[in-house]
Amino acid sequence: LGSLVKAPHPPAPSRSALAPLPPTRQVLPSGFLLGAATASHQVEGGNDNDWSEWEKGSYPDGKPHIKHGDVSGAACDSWNRFAGDVALLRELGANAYRLSVEWSRLEPEEGTWNEAAADRYLEWMRMLRAQGIQPMVTLSHFTLPRWVAAQGGWANEKTVEWIAAYTRRVARKLGSEVDLWCTLNEPNVLMTFGYMKGEWPPGLKDGKLGLQVLARQIRAHARMARELREHDTVDADGDGHATRVGIAHHVRIFQPATRSPMDRVMAGFTDRLFNQLLVDVHRTGRIQMSVPGMADMDEAVPDLKGSYDYLGLNYYSRDMVRADFSSPTLSRQYVAEGRPVNDLGWDVYPEGLYQALKRYGRAGLPIYITENGMADGKGDRRPGFLREHFEALVRAAHEGVDVRGYFHWSLLDNFEWAEGYEPRFGLYRVDYGNPDRPRVPTAAVATFQELARGLGL
Ligand code: NOJ
Repeated sequence: LGSLVKAPHPPAPSRSALAPLPPTRQVLPSGFLLGAATASHQVEGGNDNDWSEWEKGSYPDGKPHIKHGDVSGAACDSWNRFAGDVALLRELGANAYRLSVEWSRLEPEEGTWNEAAADRYLEWMRMLRAQGIQPMVTLSHFTLPRWVAAQGGWANEKTVEWIAAYTRRVARKLGSEVDLWCTLNEPNVLMTFGYMKGEWPPGLKDGKLGLQVLARQIRAHARMARELREHDTVDADGDGHATRVGIAHHVRIFQPATRSPMDRVMAGFTDRLFNQLLVDVHRTGRIQMSVPGMADMDEAVPDLKGSYDYLGLNYYSRDMVRADFSSPTLSRQYVAEGRPVNDLGWDVYPEGLYQALKRYGRAGLPIYITENGMADGKGDRRPGFLREHFEALVRAAHEGVDVRGYFHWSLLDNFEWAEGYEPRFGLYRVDYGNPDRPRVPTAAVATFQELARGLGL
């Protein structure tokens, strides 16, 4: 990622060529959720899980793994500053917050349940609701308890039952306050970085195992969806649905880096495995993968068919794909020369959000944009990014796509996994040098507030 190639890319339609849109309030459905997103390990601080172990570098090779030797450590200290974060959501005019609960806190040892941590999460959900903010709760956002990781993590089939049992307890505990659930975050990204590229724990570079890990996460999702439906029976907001279950699926736009047939084939192949497979499983109830020498699977999975009440899409960028059979993913991704990029070198391509919504809208499910945002240390480009991406969403909705919400990544600057604390995605900048972790509004706060006003929030 991040290298540049000369690549043909179709120009996006110029903004002036597009017909003006009606006011958002007329286009977007009533009850549209406008919010921000975070994840437990990236903001809470004080977590003890597979990542905290990986950050220190004690396994598998004794080397530190995070850029600049960062460790998540106290992060944004949101564990102790949650009320302040809710106040920021209020200031933004948000009516929703996507956050995750941390499995390693709730079940630090197999079968040992931390009731005090569960009580705190319950209190958070109540605080959000009391402020008119609908929580969307992710059950697993990349991290695993150490005891799960020690037994192979997603390489072990038992993880499916372990995460289902954890889900049951969370559903019972938080179900009175939570209707909107997200089982797993970005199974395709976890497969790629943890099991294929070796850049995240457990640091493996095994394409074949990666595909098994993807299949295992899909089986886990299906089990989790069943647990949520069986054990969260309280309709917290009285809209007739006690649970709405989905997944946060990372979709990217893939285009061939050159005109070579191999690059075209590999762009299509990457798209099918990375983007399409996780959408199809809901319709077919089967995991179907056929990659000679790597995977040959056509498996009916109980409870998978119809397991999405909504499709959550995390959209960030576009990649140019070049075939490379020496890579466990069989290709490498690039950004085309001359493109505007964020601080991590990712193509800033709002048109891709429109394309993704039009394409995945055909799956016939309500869609939430569960993440979209930009690493922008100066904070001066985020207002334009937010405005243009939101406009892409409104345009898709205007053309009939059933999109029900948008969550900006992120509420706060936070721990950006292998990239550490350098990339800044927050609507609020976090001063990590100060133990109080002050939150300072960036210019995009005003943009977000404008969007909220446009919706009448
Ligand atoms: C998606 C992931 O869900 C989130 O954890 C990450 O920080 C953002 N993308 C930005 O890379």
